[in-house]
Amino acid sequence: MPRVNRKRRRSPAPEMHRNNRYKESPPDFSLLASLYPSFSPYLIFPSSSDRPTIDFTDFSATRELTRVLLLHDHGVNWWVPDGQLCPTVPNRSNYIHWIGDLLSSNLIPAIRDSDSNSEKPVHGFDIGTGANCIYPLLGASLLGWSFVGSDVTEVALEWARKNVESNPHILHLIEVRDARKSESLDGDEFASTSVPSDHVLVGVVKEGERFDFCMCNPPFFESIEDAGLNPKTACGGTWEEMVCPGGEQAFVSRIIEDSVSLKHSFRWFTSMVGRKVNLKFLISKIREARATVVKTTEFVQGQTSRWGLAWSFLPPKRNLISPNAPIKTNFSFMLEGLPRKAGAFQVLKSVETFFFSTGASCKSDMTSFSVNVTLSDEQTGKMLNDGTKRNWPDILDSAVDGLSFHITV
Ligand SMILES: C[S@@+](CC[C@H](N)C(=O)[O-])C[C@H]1O[C@@H](n2cnc3c(N)ncnc32)[C@H](O)[C@@H]1O
Repeated sequence: MPRVNRKRRRSPAPEMHRNNRYKESPPDFSLLASLYPSFSPYLIFPSSSDRPTIDFTDFSATRELTRVLLLHDHGVNWWVPDGQLCPTVPNRSNYIHWIGDLLSSNLIPAIRDSDSNSEKPVHGFDIGTGANCIYPLLGASLLGWSFVGSDVTEVALEWARKNVESNPHILHLIEVRDARKSESLDGDEFASTSVPSDHVLVGVVKEGERFDFCMCNPPFFESIEDAGLNPKTACGGTWEEMVCPGGEQAFVSRIIEDSVSLKHSFRWFTSMVGRKVNLKFLISKIREARATVVKTTEFVQGQTSRWGLAWSFLPPKRNLISPNAPIKTNFSFMLEGLPRKAGAFQVLKSVETFFFSTGASCKSDMTSFSVNVTLSDEQTGKMLNDGTKRNWPDILDSAVDGLSFHITV
């Protein structure tokens, strides 16, 4: 009998995404210095190792590293002025590849062209693209995706546009949009009216636009003092880039609120989250908003953890168990940790909460006392690798495209 443990074992430490080119071969600083002489002055040779490194507390050194990595590995010309946020290419690539997984899982079906019925090319929206415009540049150069990148500061808009214009091969794929201006009511042109500052998507997304996803690396901090906490790195970052009243919790809450109004304009809404406590708060906010599916992941970011949060309001595709599956498709299981006198309603809620915490899509039906659960193959894999594996029926081992099942209490 499968047993659903409510306490989950600690999951294994997250790794770089399997498609991240730096997972197996980290940047070779010696090679880069030999190819790009402007990088060589930044090399340092710690006595304990033969491999050179750079001083990651030196802004000029980290910016030059980002510049040569983007050029050498992605064919992208790039620069930001002193003090602007300098992205780490391997870290930022993980978020792009995770979105690639969400899209290719087809859990939320692709947008189709109404005339030809073929899948439309992937189109994304980067909220707060920054002067560095890193996500559109990576998404376009790695995967050929097109983007709208929004921002609200002059310097970010000016430099994001410069970074796009320096790359004629992907210029047609990226539009940089001023999020302070809203679309006029007749839908034709941008008027000079301001978008209310408590919106990030509403008023910025144009009438009739459809996106496969939005993404965001939000201003994480509530004050600039909080932002300066990591003395081990010098990634730059101005007040506007790093700070938002209420911190990331308030910023991502605004995305969630806007996502309710724009639920049909995006397949997936996503954001990066910097603190686990905020992740929990935001998941419950998304549940309250009645999203059909919520997914999370943990990103490797050097010594610090970051999370990816994704949700959708569109109906998930049901991956039904194949007709070739063994005949026995009914199983009983026990729930641990519930009080003996728990009523059917409480049991139903616990089942729903358990599967929701794995990122599954769940819908309970109070009239039939049942829950419909949909797990992607990644979530199924996670559960099978968890402490519950020994108790799951063999049928789950063969689930490759995810699972949908129905639990009756
Ligand atoms: C942490 S930075 C991220 C920059 C870049 N995406 C990256 O990952 O390095 C956050 C960005 O959000 C922008 N921002 C703040 N409020 C915004 C809003 N309401 N709409 C769009 N962008 C906003 C800031 O100006 C800043 O460039």
